[in-house]
Amino acid sequence: MRGPIWITGAGRGIGRALALRLAREGLTVIASARTAGDLQALVRDAESLPGRILPEPLDVTDREACAGVLARLEAAEGLPEIVVLNAGSHQPMPAARFDATVFDRLYAINVGGVVNGLAAVVPRFVARRRGRIAVVASVAGYVGLPTAAAYSGTKAGLIAVCESLRPDLAQFGVTVQVISPGFVKTPLTDRNEFPMPFLMEADAAADRIAKGLESDRFEITFPRRLSWLLKVLRVLPHPLKFMLTKGAIPDDAKPAALKESGS
Ligand SMILES: NC(=O)c1ccc[n+]([C@@H]2O[C@H](COP(=O)([O-])OP(=O)(O)OC[C@H]3O[C@@H](n4cnc5c(N)ncnc54)[C@H](OP(=O)(O)O)[C@@H]3O)[C@@H](O)[C@H]2O)c1
Repeated sequence: MRGPIWITGAGRGIGRALALRLAREGLTVIASARTAGDLQALVRDAESLPGRILPEPLDVTDREACAGVLARLEAAEGLPEIVVLNAGSHQPMPAARFDATVFDRLYAINVGGVVNGLAAVVPRFVARRRGRIAVVASVAGYVGLPTAAAYSGTKAGLIAVCESLRPDLAQFGVTVQVISPGFVKTPLTDRNEFPMPFLMEADAAADRIAKGLESDRFEITFPRRLSWLLKVLRVLPHPLKFMLTKGAIPDDAKPAALKESGS
């Protein structure tokens, strides 16, 4: 694999583990997140590694700032070879407590943030006739999951965006990939109170992503068992699908819990 590689959301979790994994291979990684302290800690942790981490603090919801990062990189380091648009967030929302601001927030980060990254990268990669763009979606994008109407919506949207871009940009030598992880242990999932089947460590996820970035396959998804289960769920007849997803409604989204909380 060749660098430099730009990773958004590299301050914690999957993005951080991927940055360290690639720096271990000797690559230059440009690491973005909003929290400068997380990026400084990442730089410190990579000091003894053969590669380099260059911190670029950034809020991906700021389109001009995204363009600014790419313009700076182009001038200083040269354009990245690979861009991993990973920054994202999740906030569960029981449907009975429908909250449009949860949608606003998750669509701004998960979809808007990726679109801002694409807007900065695509024209430059097309002009150069080379580059690889990997977008982090989720297996939650395969099926609308209970309490995740906003999150599943954003991730399903990202998968469709990548499916659309892939053949189109291939004409210009630009490879588009979609990364759909299952449950990975990160600060994001540490907040979950429900059981997470086939939970993976972030280092294992980073390993799968790094290997996937060396291939030309469209989708990088793991762990396989969860990914296949959800792919099968997606194509089931609707009554059967909803019978199964109903079983995944957490107790705190059930009528009894809402009654107790006065909702
Ligand atoms: N963990 C899982 O089980 C799992 C499963 C499937 C998909 N995913 C996806 O994988 C990606 C990473 O998830 P994670 O679990 O590693 O999350 P995480 O532990 O919460 O880390 C998210 C990273 O993104 C950054 N970020 C958030 N909002 C940002 C913004 N507006 N601008 C720039 N950076 C921002 C955060 O830093 P700051 O807050 O400092 O900006 C942080 O560095 C997300 O897209 C998530 O949806 C995760």
